[in-house]
Amino acid sequence: MSEQKKGKPAAPVLSLLHNWVSLAGCILAAASFFAVACLIALDFFRGFKNPYMGILTYLVAPAFLILGLLLIAFGALWERHRRRKQKPGTIPEFPKIDLNVSRQRLTFIAVVVATVVFLMLTAVGSYRTYQFTESVTFCGKTCHSIMMPEYTAYQESPHARVECVQCHIGPGASWYVKSKLSGAYQVYATLVDKYPRPIPTPIENLRPARETCEQCHWPQKFFGKVERDFPHYLPDEKNSPWTIRMLVKIGGGDPAFGQTGGIHWHMAIANRIEYIASDKDRQVIPWIQLTDRSGKVTVYQSVDTPLKPEQVGAAHPRVMDCMDCHNRPTHIYHAPVDSVDTAINSGRIDSNLPYIKKNAVQALAKNYPDTEQALANISKNLTEFYEKSTPALAKSSSQLVAAAVEEVQTIYQHNFFPGMKVDWQVYPDNIGHMNFPGCFRCHDGNHTSADGKTVVHDCAACHTLIVQGPERKLESSLEGLEFKHPVDISAQWQQTNCSDCHAGSLVE
Ligand code: HEC
Ligand code: HEC
Ligand code: HEC
Ligand code: HEC
Ligand code: HEC
Ligand code: HEC
Repeated sequence: MSEQKKGKPAAPVLSLLHNWVSLAGCILAAASFFAVACLIALDFFRGFKNPYMGILTYLVAPAFLILGLLLIAFGALWERHRRRKQKPGTIPEFPKIDLNVSRQRLTFIAVVVATVVFLMLTAVGSYRTYQFTESVTFCGKTCHSIMMPEYTAYQESPHARVECVQCHIGPGASWYVKSKLSGAYQVYATLVDKYPRPIPTPIENLRPARETCEQCHWPQKFFGKVERDFPHYLPDEKNSPWTIRMLVKIGGGDPAFGQTGGIHWHMAIANRIEYIASDKDRQVIPWIQLTDRSGKVTVYQSVDTPLKPEQVGAAHPRVMDCMDCHNRPTHIYHAPVDSVDTAINSGRIDSNLPYIKKNAVQALAKNYPDTEQALANISKNLTEFYEKSTPALAKSSSQLVAAAVEEVQTIYQHNFFPGMKVDWQVYPDNIGHMNFPGCFRCHDGNHTSADGKTVVHDCAACHTLIVQGPERKLESSLEGLEFKHPVDISAQWQQTNCSDCHAGSLVE
């Protein structure tokens, strides 16, 4: 104020802060600066496990700090504007800085130093913010109930040590920005409870799989065959085991690595498959176009529902990539038959309990309003079944029944999420052809070209069956066996798709 009295033209910068807005900004900025500093120190020495602490430290508190600084600046500008209006002509349009005046010089140096320190802190802070918003904790745990199905399934998957962002965002800045923009909307949708249940797939703006998956799995690495075991237990009194073991031909198409056939043949750089799906989930595929390495184009159409030329013209064919087969590489919601087979096979459910396969699958496949009721019902149904049908066994081996109940409840908790309306039926899995059409969307023997070729349906095209059958009567051959259906259904397995009868629960 004293300077103004002396009639100096430019008011020193600091006096401009003498207004309520800037003052409030100062208090806010100082308080949040203190909070940020303490929280960062805490994170540095202890490391946060709780996602909300991370959000507070790296998103909320810095936002208040920045708001405080903005308020200070806004207050000062406003104050200056007010003074100019009060005494027109005395204050020039832009501030004059005279470094020869010692007071102004000191202020100037102080402002520069403070700015540099602040920018450095911001750099460190925003790097941590970046790291934090890319972490599995942030992606998987923050929106607890929404991401629960994906996070739970992820933790038990082959990719449990791969970060969410490596598949969902991938390397490079542009997808980072894209994902944070859509993320901002998702935060809003969560706050106002407007998000869809279940979250719809296929994800429309998922980054092309070849740019993400191929960071770790590249097509040249696909060759030969891998052995896969499929232990089954029939839904009869004895839970009779039925084993299937096969070599899955995962070969690729790079001539430098041996044969140019096999499943990853689709992915070979020179081959290109495009298709048109008639539904949103890409489960019904009437039209396929193959462009082979010599450039020859073959169109295969569904025999039952071929598309008219104008329908083809109006559609946007999708180029096949990893996602058309591996759409569930990590969020795998296991079907009841599969998870119960696995549990019996690994001994977590005792196969000496009569009808346990059937009972467990039936208990899981029922519709429950929430997890609590599901768990209570599973326990009640299984316990009552054994008390009624085999009272002696229920008494003598009550711990077997209790262990089975516990395991079935665990399966439920890991694969069923009534709150988000998520279970195995919601997200079709395109690998294989048992519970969903999968490969048979095209390889059903029903897609032919104009010159009479059919997309292969031969059972030996994709795998070699080397072991099959019931316990003690296993057939085996490295040359490949002819498939035998575990129960007699005559020739139906050759005429209809497996998934027409098998849908993850018992075939009724
Ligand atoms: C191995 C790659 C991979 C990893 C790691 C991964 N995802 Fe996914 N995620 C996918 C694919 C593929 C889809 C399905 C895309 C489709 O069908 O369009 C998907 C789908 C989703 C969906 C949509 C709903 C659903 O179940 O399909 C959500 C939500 C999701 N992921 C969240 C996460 C979170 C959170 C993490 C980390 C805890 C994570 N993802 C880790 C590949 C991955
Ligand atoms: C950051 C690296 C990384 C990325 C990205 C990645 N994966 Fe993987 N993937 C792995 C690792 C590690 C394994 C486990 C290998 C093992 O168990 O031997 C694996 C295993 C697999 C398997 C075999 C699963 C099994 O049952 O054994 C498949 C299939 C697969 N990944 C597909 C995908 C697909 C599809 C994508 C893209 C959506 C993808 N991966 C992205 C690292 C990655
Ligand atoms: C035509 C369908 C199809 C396409 C397209 C496809 N895969 Fe596969 N992939 C399979 C099948 C089937 C298997 C064997 C499945 C199994 O037994 O788990 C497999 C196996 C794998 C495995 C495990 C290999 C092993 O050694 O066990 C990886 C990794 C993999 N695929 C990654 C990819 C990636 C990455 C892409 C995209 C570049 C891709 N796949 C495209 C069908 C496909
Ligand atoms: C979008 C349609 C489509 C889907 C889905 C699809 N394929 Fe194919 N596949 C083709 C076409 C078209 C060809 C080339 C025509 C042919 O060889 O019969 C082909 C060829 C193949 C071949 C090479 C056959 C040979 O020996 O020449 C294998 C192996 C194969 N597919 C495996 C699979 C597997 C396994 C899946 C499921 C995980 C699958 N395909 C899903 C369209 C598809
Ligand atoms: C286009 C390729 C393809 C064709 C054709 C094909 N399969 Fe498969 N089959 C697969 C794949 C891929 C899997 C799954 C591998 C996995 O889950 O790891 C599979 C899995 C299986 C399984 C094990 C399923 C389970 O859960 O126990 C059986 C049995 C089977 N096939 C039988 C057949 C029979 C019978 C035929 C002929 C009618 C046939 N397949 C034709 C690709 C094919
Ligand atoms: C006409 C209906 C029908 C078709 C089509 C069919 N199945 Fe089955 N399948 C059954 C019945 C019924 C059972 C016996 C019990 C049950 O699982 O409910 C069965 C049982 C099985 C089992 C043992 C199941 C278990 O519970 O673990 C396997 C494995 C199997 N089928 C494989 C196949 C394959 C592979 C195909 C396609 C090539 C196929 N089935 C096609 C009706 C069918």
